[in-house]
Amino acid sequence: MTTYYSTTTQITDLSKSETGKSATARFAQDVKEGLSQQQKQLSSRYFYDGEGSRLFQKIMHLPEYYLTRSEHNVFTTHQQTISSQLAAKGNFHLIDLGAGDATKTKIILRQLLLQQSDFDYVPVDISGDAMVELCENLHDELPELQTHAVVGDYFDALDWLDANKPSRKVLLFLGSNIGNFNPDERMAFLKKVRSHMQPGDMLLIGMDLCKEPETILRAYDDAAGVTADFNLNLLHRINRELGGNFDVGQFKHFALYDPQEGVMKSFLISQQDQEVSIKATGQSFYFHAWEAIHTESSYKFTLKQAETMGQELGFELQHIFQDKNHYFADVLYVVT
Ligand code: AVI
Repeated sequence: MTTYYSTTTQITDLSKSETGKSATARFAQDVKEGLSQQQKQLSSRYFYDGEGSRLFQKIMHLPEYYLTRSEHNVFTTHQQTISSQLAAKGNFHLIDLGAGDATKTKIILRQLLLQQSDFDYVPVDISGDAMVELCENLHDELPELQTHAVVGDYFDALDWLDANKPSRKVLLFLGSNIGNFNPDERMAFLKKVRSHMQPGDMLLIGMDLCKEPETILRAYDDAAGVTADFNLNLLHRINRELGGNFDVGQFKHFALYDPQEGVMKSFLISQQDQEVSIKATGQSFYFHAWEAIHTESSYKFTLKQAETMGQELGFELQHIFQDKNHYFADVLYVVT
């Protein structure tokens, strides 16, 4: 269904409107599976309820969380070169996977408009509310921008574009979201993205780079404890939505960085022997003192890895844009 907000702004909703009931059943199933494993785990996918999204916004403004500021610096420093390279092969859709509020993308959008590039902006996000808010905001801030937002799964959106609006694609996958996939998931995801791309299409991926471990650790274990609250909110969410009885005060956030694997791992650790019942799973789970639940991996990359990844996927690496500290890279791949 497509809703026209103005002559320049429209939203197509492809979300399969999973009912509240089936979404909860899926959440319960994932929690049951994750907590039944020998090494317990919960998926970071479930961080982002209303409260989790609010806490993540707060994280992005923390002094220790350098990622957002660094990518912002990449875009402000290199906006002219980035925009010229994206637009060099003519008319295109600028497709922003997981656009959110598009704070960083707006830097590029302004520059593309300034240089009178022939494009439209296609933000894609699973959150319909976020897309309505973004369209209203873009309509006010950049009234000359042609925006066609798509609400739904990334690959449903790409299928829909191929069928309804075929044109050269420039895909954005920003914010180090690629880092939250494990290596197998990452390659499977990128292969699927690649299968939607034709010669001339481009992909710009934001990657957090390997750096001094202490800097990375601080970003995921901030002094104000916002990241701890973000992590612990997962247990509150299970209590709220699945009828759990976690005593959240008996768990603590713990983060560690593995410099060989280049991965930041976050855990919730049980501080005592305890049993937790979760109604929606129909069972209880036992935690022994100091047992950990793995909740998130945030992979960091080397420039060499960015190059190898491109080769494995059949991309030509066109350019690596970095911030002034060389903390973060936005890597531009092209299909030749
Ligand atoms: C969304 N993602 C890229 C963030 C990250 O850095 O892995 C999520 C996050 N987790 C803790 N702080 C931020």
